[in-house]
Amino acid sequence: MKHLSEISREGRDILRSDDMQKTRGFVQHGSVSVYEHSLKVTDMCLTLADVLRIRTDRRSLIRGALLHDFFLYDWHADESWHRLHGYTHASRALSNAMARFTLNRRERNMIYSHMFPLNLTHIPRFRESVLLCTADKIVSTAETVKGFIKK
Ligand SMILES: [Fe+2]
Ligand SMILES: [Fe+2]
Repeated sequence: MKHLSEISREGRDILRSDDMQKTRGFVQHGSVSVYEHSLKVTDMCLTLADVLRIRTDRRSLIRGALLHDFFLYDWHADESWHRLHGYTHASRALSNAMARFTLNRRERNMIYSHMFPLNLTHIPRFRESVLLCTADKIVSTAETVKGFIKK
């Protein structure tokens, strides 16, 4: 992972927290955990910002991306309140993150709007949010495709 040392530095408290460590046990796509997915998405955000030469608040970009899927449950478990996961998990991730960390408005909007355009009313308002939205879709698609190929 290209930006691991920068991510570890800026996101140390998040990565070390008990709840973030818990996400190692939740599957995101295929055999990828939510923890691993969040790291990969964060790395992709930084790569996109570099390649496209987009000026960003790097620390916010890292912290918002690390917490974007901080919903803290197994969304594959067959319980009715998980069924709307695609629509609801961004809000849940945001409230979990706000309960544990101090977030600026950029970071809050990143988490809240990362499923756009699925959630049409959760609009990305910062370039960091647009980068996260894009990075998440690239990484998620790759993980899902790899999961199918492995089957
Ligand atoms: Fe998500
Ligand atoms: Fe994600």
